[in-house]
Amino acid sequence: MAIATETTEARGCYNVAVSTSRTLPRIALGAVVLVAVGYFPLAFTSFWHFFDAGAPRLQDALQGRAAGHDFAYGHGSVVALRAEDYRAHRVVMLVHTSTGALALALATLQYSARLRRRPGVHRWTGRTYLLLMGVSMAAAYAFLLAAPQIAYFGGSAFDLQLWVLATSTVTSAAIALVAIRRRDLVSHRAWIGMNLAFMLTAPLLRLLWVGLGRLDHGIELMVGLDVGASTLGVVAPAGGAIAFLLTQPSRRVAPVADARRQYVAAAIVSVAGSCWLAARFAPLPAQVPGASLWIGHVVPATGLVVICLLGALRSARRGRGIAEGQWRALLWGAALATPSAALTTVLATPVYGTIDGFLAGTMVGASGPIVLAFLLVVRSASQAGLTSSTTSNSSRSAPVATGLR
Ligand code: HEM
Repeated sequence: MAIATETTEARGCYNVAVSTSRTLPRIALGAVVLVAVGYFPLAFTSFWHFFDAGAPRLQDALQGRAAGHDFAYGHGSVVALRAEDYRAHRVVMLVHTSTGALALALATLQYSARLRRRPGVHRWTGRTYLLLMGVSMAAAYAFLLAAPQIAYFGGSAFDLQLWVLATSTVTSAAIALVAIRRRDLVSHRAWIGMNLAFMLTAPLLRLLWVGLGRLDHGIELMVGLDVGASTLGVVAPAGGAIAFLLTQPSRRVAPVADARRQYVAAAIVSVAGSCWLAARFAPLPAQVPGASLWIGHVVPATGLVVICLLGALRSARRGRGIAEGQWRALLWGAALATPSAALTTVLATPVYGTIDGFLAGTMVGASGPIVLAFLLVVRSASQAGLTSSTTSNSSRSAPVATGLR
C-alpha cells in the first residue's frame, strides 16, 4: 500500500511519502550548533569581571573589534547604560548567563542522531536542559522585577519584550514536557524546537546589533538592539515554525484544496498591514531610523509570507494536502503578523509614548499570530501522526481532521 517516494500521486487515500531533501535542515542545524556553541564562552564569562576586575571581557572586546570602541563602550551602549544595574544584581545575572549558556550548548546535543539512539542519555540531557533553562529564566524574571528599565531609546519596549520572551520560553518548554509525558512525540518535537528558537534570540540579537553597528557607523548600540529585537519578534517564532515544517519525517499524500483565493487574500492582508505600519512610522521623529520599520519588521514579515506561499504551492504541486494546509495556516499567521504589529503600536503608544509605543508594536505585536498558527500546525501534524500510526489500512481511513482546511 504505502509508496514511500515524493512522486506518489494523490488517489483519495493517504499514502506515506518520505521527503528526500535533507540538505536545508542539515545546514540550518549546523548554523544553530555554530551559533549556540560559539556564543557559549562569551555568555558564560560575561559577568566574571563584576567579581574579578582582571577577568576577560570577551563579549565586550569582540563587539569593540567588530563595530568599534565607541559602539561597544560609548554613549548608548549596554555597557554604559547598564553598568550600575548589572553590578547591583551581578549574582542574579551571573546565574542567568551561566545557566543560559550551558542550556543552549546542551540543547544542541539533543539533535545528534547518535545520542538519540540512546534514549537514556537523551532523557537525562533533556531534564538537565530543562533545569538549566528554568533557572536561567527564573533569574531573568528576578532581574526584570528588581532592576529599573533602561531609561533610554526603546528601553521600556525592550523590557516588555523580555517579559514576553521569558514567558514564551517557559511556556513552550512546559508544553513540550506535557506532550512527551503524553507520548505525543510530534508535539514534543515541535514545541522544544520553538523553545530553542526563543533561546537562540540571545546570541542572534548580539549578532544583529553588531552587524548593524558595522553597517551603519553612526548608529548607537541601543538603537541597533531595538532594531534587532524587532527583527527577532518575527524571525524567532517563524524560525521555530519553519524548522518544524521542514523536518517532518513523512508527508502524507492527500487531496489538495483549491486555496488560490486564500493565497491572494493573505498577500493583500500582509501588504495592507505594511501600509498601516508605515503610516504609524511616518510621523516619528528622525532619531528613529528607517531600519526600525524595514529591517525590524517589514522585510522579515514579508519574507515569511513568501516562504509560506512557496511551501504551500510546493506541497500542493506534490499532492500533499495536509502539508499544504499546514503551510497555509502559517501563511495566515505571517500575513496577520503585520496588522497585529500595527495594532499593537496603536494600543501601546498611550502607555509607552510615541517612540517606545512603536517599538513595542514591532517587538511584541508580530509573534502572536505566528505562534497561534504554529499551534494549529502542530495540532494538525500530531493528529496526522496519530492516525498514521493507529491506522493499518490507509485506503479505508477517513480524511484526517486537521482543522486547517
Ligand atoms: C530566551 C530567553 C531569555 C530571556 C527572557 C533573557 C532575559 C535577559 C534579561 C532580562 C537580561 C538583562 C537585560 C537588560 O539589561 O535589561 C539579559 C541579559 C543577558 N542575557 Fe539573557 N535572556 C534570555 C536568554 C539568554 C540566553 C540563552 C543567554 C546565553 C546563552 C543569555 C545571555 C545574556 C547575557 C550575556 C546578558 C547580558 C547582556 C549583555 O551584555 O549582552 N540570555 N537577558
